[in-house]
Amino acid sequence: MRADPQQDPATFWEAFYLTRRTSSNGRATAALQRIAADLTPGLSLDLGASHGDDVIWLARQGWQARGCDISDTAIARARTRAADEGLEHRAQFERCDLSAAFPQGAFDLITALYLQSPVALARAAILAQAAARLRPGGHLLVLSHAAPPPWSPEATPSTIFPTLAEDLAAIGAPAPGLEVLEARIVTRPGRGPDGAEAMLEDNLVLIRRRPVEETGSLCRSA
Ligand SMILES: C[S@@+](CC[C@H](N)C(=O)[O-])C[C@H]1O[C@@H](n2cnc3c(N)ncnc32)[C@H](O)[C@@H]1O
Repeated sequence: MRADPQQDPATFWEAFYLTRRTSSNGRATAALQRIAADLTPGLSLDLGASHGDDVIWLARQGWQARGCDISDTAIARARTRAADEGLEHRAQFERCDLSAAFPQGAFDLITALYLQSPVALARAAILAQAAARLRPGGHLLVLSHAAPPPWSPEATPSTIFPTLAEDLAAIGAPAPGLEVLEARIVTRPGRGPDGAEAMLEDNLVLIRRRPVEETGSLCRSA
């Protein structure tokens, strides 16, 4: 089914969650698990958190984990799942429209995992905001579908598949304060609705905001 690109984003995603995706597989994104294993838990923010799999996993690892999404239904399900695990104080969810406003705060880890939409989404501006909200030493992980899956090549407009260069340009990295730790295409196994299997390509970008001591003083010492 092709989405109408003119559709209101909140209406589109609410209908998506109400009609097409009522359950979550409960697993955290593999790339996030690999990258977070090397990080010290702090305050995290997941952009487009869906049912909260990644936020709840981070909370289990000791993070104070926040997630936001435009769908009230997705947020309600995520909150219920966090409460079921007794994690409601460590895994917190809020409704947001990231195209309009970015959640308050500065973060040690910001994730944008498949933050892609067939309807309006100010993705480049959101990624720029995310980079600006990293604490010194904080990380930004952006993972995105590099291409439509082979079982539905027509389902989504090609414009929603960013290149690595486009994501880096949106983030404004590399820059003196922003280090590019990874920018590459990774593959993972996927399964289509009829059971067909294929290797899928994702763009992975991992950025770190350099601590002040690494960027040096702005002033020349006397
Ligand atoms: C392709 S899904 C990815 C969900 C999840 N991160 C994952 O890895 O499965 C995109 C998510 O972004 C959310 N979203 C789309 N537009 C948004 C917006 N303007 N503000 C906040 N969330 C948005 C959708 O509701 C949806 O949950």
